[in-house]
Amino acid sequence: MIVAVDGPAAAGKGTLACRLAERLGFSYMDTGLLYRAVALAVLRRGVSPRNGEAVVDAAHGVHAAALADPMLRSEVVGQMASQVAVIPAVRAILLSCQRRFASCPPKGGAVMDGRDIGTVVCPHAECKFFVTANLAVRARRRVNELRERGMSAIESQVLAKMHERDQRDQERVIALLRPAEDAFILDTSEMNPDVALSIALTYVAQKVAASI
Ligand code: DC
Repeated sequence: MIVAVDGPAAAGKGTLACRLAERLGFSYMDTGLLYRAVALAVLRRGVSPRNGEAVVDAAHGVHAAALADPMLRSEVVGQMASQVAVIPAVRAILLSCQRRFASCPPKGGAVMDGRDIGTVVCPHAECKFFVTANLAVRARRRVNELRERGMSAIESQVLAKMHERDQRDQERVIALLRPAEDAFILDTSEMNPDVALSIALTYVAQKVAASI
């Protein structure tokens, strides 16, 4: 079984996807980390995200060990990830890796967390969620997250950057951020993570029951 969890930054999809995987005994893949790994390689090489050839070269050089780098979680890398993600050749390189994982997960099933899982990577996923929340709530959550990690953050700046990233992810010509037609929309603006998990688990159980 494949569970797709898509949505914008800081909507709560990472937390939900991780906890779903744990509860279902499935393998979890954070596909954003792949884009972040390419972005970090691009930053370290000092190449422009507009230089498609150099970015593709960096994408070919990314391997599993790069996914453990703590720098991947930084805001700068997140912004760059959204820029390299508009390049079709980069998406193609990462697509095959995501599909391989989804079709042959180490555990019984896969929970895939991303932007285009339900629409492009795994359009046949049995269960699809689109997790969202309003921009102000997401910016607040990200600020709290950064401060908990000991980093300073100015809410208005985080909000502006998040808005910019949303727009880029929603307007790119390929694999844009949007809910799949058959996705369950989960708005977490006024919902705590436990409630979101419980709603999602009920939906997965309904899907499993319907497939028997
Ligand atoms: O989920 P995240 O914040 O780690 O993702 C970082 C960027 O990577 C995001 O702004 C867009 C891109 N991305 C993507 O285009 N497709 C995915 N499946 C996952 C992430």
